[in-house]
Amino acid sequence: MMVTVSRKAHFNAAHRLYRIDWSNEKNHTVFGKCSNPNYHGHNYELVVSVTGKIDKETGYVIDMKVLKDLIKEEVEDAFDHKNLNLDVEAFKNLNPTAENIVVVIYNKLRSRIKSNLKLKVTLYETPRNFVSYSGE
Ligand code: NI
Repeated sequence: MMVTVSRKAHFNAAHRLYRIDWSNEKNHTVFGKCSNPNYHGHNYELVVSVTGKIDKETGYVIDMKVLKDLIKEEVEDAFDHKNLNLDVEAFKNLNPTAENIVVVIYNKLRSRIKSNLKLKVTLYETPRNFVSYSGE
């Protein structure tokens, strides 16, 4: 019997999508407004889901407090009110698309969650645009 436990979180961050080896024109063609040289912000929403067996002693799959603190430390403290391109090491040489952000978040959390638990991260860049990654 497997149960999924989920926690929502939120951060605001700025980014710019571009490749330094492309011309401004090509960046604009591919990334549109998202390549605006002066950056722009998003209200990112996050859903972190952990799936596993219920622990017989505690009745938990994972302690929600532990999960909450982990997300705060690895995601909110690292990304909230930051410029992802300039302030976050992971995006120094990686385009901060929603796809790349969700993989970075997954990898940060994966290394802190027991390997017998499955992890899935869903990242909303806008209320209608979202991406998911579960390590496959
Ligand atoms: Ni954007």
